[in-house]
Amino acid sequence: MIDELKKEIEEVRQSFLNEIAQIQSPDKLAALKERYLSRKKGAVSQFLLRLREFPPREKPAAGQLINQLKATIETELAGREASIGTASGPEAPWSDPSLPASDLPVGRFHLIADIQRQIEDLFLNLGYEIAVGPEVELEDYNFTKLNIPEFHPARDEQDTFFLDGFDDMVLRTHTSPMQVRYMLAHRPPLKIISPGKAFRKDDPDATHSPCFHQVEGLLVDRGINFSHLKGTLELFLRSFFGSGLNLRFRPGYFPFTEPSAEVDISCFMCSPAGTSGAGAASGPNPDCRVCKGSGWLEILGSGMVHPQVLLNCGIDPETYSGFAFGVGIERLAMIKFGVPDLRLLYENDLRLLGQFG
Ligand code: PHE
Repeated sequence: MIDELKKEIEEVRQSFLNEIAQIQSPDKLAALKERYLSRKKGAVSQFLLRLREFPPREKPAAGQLINQLKATIETELAGREASIGTASGPEAPWSDPSLPASDLPVGRFHLIADIQRQIEDLFLNLGYEIAVGPEVELEDYNFTKLNIPEFHPARDEQDTFFLDGFDDMVLRTHTSPMQVRYMLAHRPPLKIISPGKAFRKDDPDATHSPCFHQVEGLLVDRGINFSHLKGTLELFLRSFFGSGLNLRFRPGYFPFTEPSAEVDISCFMCSPAGTSGAGAASGPNPDCRVCKGSGWLEILGSGMVHPQVLLNCGIDPETYSGFAFGVGIERLAMIKFGVPDLRLLYENDLRLLGQFG
């Protein structure tokens, strides 16, 4: 009895394999599946029904044969479904091969790279060059030549990563050493921006990260003064945040610029275009969650290149003057797009990054 079953099963298996090899359409595949696997009339079910007739001794072996057949059929069907598509139920879409292909997900630049590129484009249009420098930097360029001598307290403010075994090198704490590199290698007039990573020994929190991104700007020529700096930053920040924006220059301190200024922008949330930030007639919104009610947002550091820095780089401060600025890309992203926690920018969750198209 079992031998007979074996023979029949083998025949069914063969004819199934012959049939499935011919099939090209999901519809036909569905019909085939129905014929072999349907609960009521499927070939496999028919065999199972017959199990009853077997003497108990032979039942397990017979059952095993049937199950093997079922497994073969299922595997073959699944493979074929994967290659030609699944069956058409009433709700299954019909396909029109003459239609354009559906969209594939397309990648895009990370928000940080995207902002960096926007800034690069803007300054390239103003005739600046892009200069990229090393992330592992000479202490001399990161500090000393920038007028930050050893034991100067400004070194403490920028908690520095030192490199074991390399006394004279650090992970650069800002992009400003690129000013030094460029001035040592080029004569004025010079106009550069320098984007890149910077590192400080900060514990990560909503507004700090041990690795972050900055864009440095430097312009040195004859007769450069503070209004050139103001005009440039105004153009840059207005094109980035919106044309109605107002700027506020607050006295600041950086050892490598004199005078130095911290630059604020009027809050785009509660001081809309055309009004003047905190000075607007209506005043800022005391409950504004972006500027916390002050009407202003601190955005970057800047100033006129310190004569000593020019000297350190072999440029005569009697003939030349310049301005410099440094802006944090994460900060720009957080302010412009309302990203509440800087760490979100590094988690690479596409649900977040996909929002900035
Ligand atoms: N390097 C400064 C910082 O990281 C920013 C800056 C750059 C200030 C250039 C003035 C001029 O805070």
